Amino acid sequence: MKKLLILNGPNLNLLGVREPEVYGTTTFEQYFSTLKIAFPEFELTYFQSNVEGELINKLHEVGFTYDGIVMNAGAYTHTSIAIADAISGIKTPVIEVHISNVHAREEFRHKSQIAAVCTGVIAGFGLKSYELALRALL
Ligand code: DQA
Repeated sequence: MKKLLILNGPNLNLLGVREPEVYGTTTFEQYFSTLKIAFPEFELTYFQSNVEGELINKLHEVGFTYDGIVMNAGAYTHTSIAIADAISGIKTPVIEVHISNVHAREEFRHKSQIAAVCTGVIAGFGLKSYELALRALL
């Protein structure tokens, strides 16, 4: 069974209550339980942190044994060379996802520091962006 990690960065613990007009009203825990049912062929795990170093530690921890990582790095997407370096340093492919269409928002969200070291990028489909990324790893 393929082992996959969904890795969420800062403020994504507030999904469901945070800016619902942008990010929706479903909590990630609710959505994650539907994903586990939709993808019985995967061993799915989920980790969220608001701390950049904890995200990097998690990438190092799973990045030589897991089959794929679906990562929403939140605002660190736009700033973190350290996360980009961590993705470059591991073996497991990483797919960058965003709930919102970052290109239709403020200019500072148009630049991703991690996109170039990810296998691909999916943005703008709401929580479905995660499902599309998992399909890409099937
Ligand atoms: C986000 C987009 C980022 O610009 C923002 O900082 C987030 C969420 C998204 O999923 O749409 O925290 O990654």
